[in-house]
Amino acid sequence: MKEIVLNHPMIEHKISILRDEKTSTKEFRELISEIGMILCLEALKDAPLHEVKIKTPITETIGKQIDENDYAFVPILRAGMGMVDGVLRLIPNAKIGHIGLYRNEETLEPVEYFCKLPKNIEKKTIILLDPMLATGGSGAAAITMLKKRGVKNIKFLSIISAPEGLKRIHEEHPDVQVYTAYVDEKLNENGYIVPGLGDAGDRIFGTK
Ligand code: PRP
Ligand code: URA
Repeated sequence: MKEIVLNHPMIEHKISILRDEKTSTKEFRELISEIGMILCLEALKDAPLHEVKIKTPITETIGKQIDENDYAFVPILRAGMGMVDGVLRLIPNAKIGHIGLYRNEETLEPVEYFCKLPKNIEKKTIILLDPMLATGGSGAAAITMLKKRGVKNIKFLSIISAPEGLKRIHEEHPDVQVYTAYVDEKLNENGYIVPGLGDAGDRIFGTK
């Protein structure tokens, strides 16, 4: 499945502010959350609807709704947490799981340290959240962890993706649709996305 990229002048605008090293922690957090919400909106374009009877102040009519119970958001810790507020604005009743992974800075391989998922996870559509898709190691490992627990329907939201990471997800998990706000040029020798925005987790949590 080819990635779906948000091509929109407002996304270009917001991504440029995110990239700027002078952007404050507050504004950075707000933008990660907001772009997360926009990506989620795109990912829900094919959401199944059921009919509901409603009564407006004028008349009775039939409306359409999603089943919020069919969805769970799973942020990859830490940086994925920054997208949770935004996506919850779309599906406030979605369940939330957490996958803890960090990249070993020398090998760039993901190290798993936490996994707590909602019950009946295998019956839900999982919207996996991570603002950065670099080598793709963390994303691919998180998808494998979900699949081992029976999950079949996964959508991956990433704010900035490197071509290397997209290729890895497509090769290892061809069934997973990636939605990204921007595809950057490449990775540098330390596995950082170029031009990128630096370390997303550190910028969201103000740890550096
Ligand atoms: C960052 C980012 C991704 C990962 C991407 O997390 O949030 O999870 O790196 O890199 P990859 O595609 O090469 O695996 P990091 O490991 O820095 O942990 P953090 O979120 O706790 O800062
Ligand atoms: N993780 C980040 O936070 N930024 C990158 O550029 C690569 C991985």
